[in-house]
Amino acid sequence: MSGPNTDYDPVEVDALKPEEVEAARDAALAAIAQAADLADLKQVRTAHTGDRSPLALANREIGALPPQARKEAGQRVGQARGAVGKALAERQVVLEAEHEERMLVEETVDVTLPTDRLPRGARHPLTTGAEHIADIFVAMGWEVAEGPVIEAEWLNFDALNLGPDHPARTMQDTFWTDPEDHGLVLRTHTSPVQARTMLTRTPPIYVVCPGRVFRTDEYDATHSPVFHQVEGLAIDEGISMAHLKGTLDHFAAAMFGEGISTRFRPSFFPFTEPSAEVDLVCFVCRGAQVVTTADGVETCRTCRGEGWIEWGGCGVVNPRVLTACGVDSERYSGFAFGMGIDRTLMFRHGIEDMRELFEGDVRFTTAFGTEL
Ligand code: DAH
Repeated sequence: MSGPNTDYDPVEVDALKPEEVEAARDAALAAIAQAADLADLKQVRTAHTGDRSPLALANREIGALPPQARKEAGQRVGQARGAVGKALAERQVVLEAEHEERMLVEETVDVTLPTDRLPRGARHPLTTGAEHIADIFVAMGWEVAEGPVIEAEWLNFDALNLGPDHPARTMQDTFWTDPEDHGLVLRTHTSPVQARTMLTRTPPIYVVCPGRVFRTDEYDATHSPVFHQVEGLAIDEGISMAHLKGTLDHFAAAMFGEGISTRFRPSFFPFTEPSAEVDLVCFVCRGAQVVTTADGVETCRTCRGEGWIEWGGCGVVNPRVLTACGVDSERYSGFAFGMGIDRTLMFRHGIEDMRELFEGDVRFTTAFGTEL
């Protein structure tokens, strides 16, 4: 009969000796600490915790031990495996963070690099600005009228009660076309469109006329020989200065924001009686004359501390103009106004130099976006 194999002492299994387990653990910890990146760490994990790793092999031997030895060896191997597992998890967190940081640096996009995308164009602010103004009036039931830029002297001046001796007819302001006695000028304002409209339509008339005008002005930050105006004309029964004021207040608020109204200052235009200059409540300081900035209270730059901005001219249509244009001045009355579109856009958008509007630099135009 054969008894138990007392020669075989499983406590002596090499792989389970404390120094072996310790060595396997230390080798694993050293390899983990040296793993330079996540791929390295993956290999280390397989080598030191995989099925064929020293610690896994040692673990498999435990089952063969007698109970007392099994407990001891189990603890030893368990602790070693626990330490390795913990070190792996910690290193994983560190390497992942490093990886992420490296990706952020490596994948940084230089937004200043030139691109090969086709640049998208933008419509010119003068075009969209004129359309915006026209829209404000079309929404009130007005119509848009147009006239030629080469205009009859008679329509540009005489029909508007600007007699032959009026200073605006001298060579100072007006571009005449050759030969001079042809009576054709580059229109000096959009007001001749008023005359054209009255001559071709019967009241009631409600029209706005945006367009290009020409004067022999210097070309500088606030002047240009070519600029833009918008003319308004309303002819109906019982039209008064009050209608004019209400219309311009609405125009101002629609263009510059709720609460921006107008004031009239007495003035003179041959084609209106009475006439007024229109000022606009400064839409930056809203009439306060000062603005509060990070540096304290400063004079408002937009209105130069006036609280008001000069906007244009207006008045009740002179009956002589109505008569010259075939409108019964006993039955009808009307109001008219004229504003510079360039100026309007300059203060609306903080454009400091008028030449920006004319030089065709796409970088300027594009800044206004692709407004339709
Ligand atoms: N035509 C004038 C100018 O160019 C502006 C103007 C003033 C137009 C009064 C008007 C008006 O219709 O009523 O300076």
